[in-house]
Amino acid sequence: MERPDTIPPERTDRPLARIVSSAMLLHAVAALIELGVVEELAGPPRPLDDVARALTVPEERLLVLVRAAVATGLVEEPSPGLFSLSSAGDHLRIDDPQGLRDLFRMCTHGDFFQAWTRLGHSVTSDRSAFAIHTGQELFAYLSEREAAAAVFNRAMNSSTLAAPLLREIDPAETGTMVDLGGGEGATIAAVLRACPSTRGILFDLPHVVEGAPPLLREAGVEDRCSIVGGDFFEGVPRGADVYLAARVMQNWADPDAALILRNVREAMGATSRLLIVGHLPEQDRPSEFLEAMSLSMFVLYGAPLRTREQYEALLASVGLSLHEVRRVPDGESIMDVRPMP
Ligand SMILES: C[S@@+](CC[C@H](N)C(=O)[O-])C[C@H]1O[C@@H](n2cnc3c(N)ncnc32)[C@H](O)[C@@H]1O
Repeated sequence: MERPDTIPPERTDRPLARIVSSAMLLHAVAALIELGVVEELAGPPRPLDDVARALTVPEERLLVLVRAAVATGLVEEPSPGLFSLSSAGDHLRIDDPQGLRDLFRMCTHGDFFQAWTRLGHSVTSDRSAFAIHTGQELFAYLSEREAAAAVFNRAMNSSTLAAPLLREIDPAETGTMVDLGGGEGATIAAVLRACPSTRGILFDLPHVVEGAPPLLREAGVEDRCSIVGGDFFEGVPRGADVYLAARVMQNWADPDAALILRNVREAMGATSRLLIVGHLPEQDRPSEFLEAMSLSMFVLYGAPLRTREQYEALLASVGLSLHEVRRVPDGESIMDVRPMP
């Protein structure tokens, strides 16, 4: 007897399958980086036995990993048994200009990664998941752990946003620029290289700026960049034309963020500008990526991302106003902030 055609029921579990598989595939990507498979697969397609020999790993075990990487779209198999990185996979290479490899490494490394397991607990308390997991807030933790700080600083240094930032800066109007929480100076170095008449001040915690001199020397800008170790909750250098806070304001909940901004407002002259670089979610157009970034800030720092409207209210509370926003969808936007008259 012929069976009637049946319409399969709609798969309502698809979103769950996607979430759980991406959580697993994340580890495949971390292992590809850790084992050096990414660098081996850069360039023309290679047979797997060749890659396995170069890495001295068993080919059949390597195949499990590479098959998973093919499923993620980071590795391609243009003909059977030959593998190479896709253009997305290329971003995981050591010399990728966007620095995604080091950001990826940080997100999948040690306590940065394990802190996520305390997200539920964090929601029921007033502490960040990172602080619940490690017993310390992130910057205090990094000040005592050289290896983790190196992972963090490398992720920041390699992923600076110099190109979009430079479009916002008029070198003729930028005699001095202060990079607040500028880490080891990768961003200010890129700005000073592109603006030869600008002088820079790199401002970050004293133990962080200790790592800056080699980077500034290598960029050839050390004679135009002062290094100031300090605490932006206590005060910041005065009278610069441009203040930069790149990926800094989103590390703090409103009371702390307002204190930093009040100190910046006090240091600014009437024509100074503050450029805030960071992710900017939109309430009425939720993006999966920006919501994930917001969760990431909540896990690491205990503060979710702010919308434009939330920034406007925060800035107004300390005498600053949002002059213009360069929105980068699913990326880091730039807010041009001026003192209120
Ligand atoms: C997320 S990182 C951003 C680094 C850099 N601006 C960038 O975009 O790559 C935040 C920076 O804020 C610095 N920071 C944290 N607390 C600080 C404080 N109280 N005073 C000055 N800098 C601080 C950290 O050391 C770190 O370098």
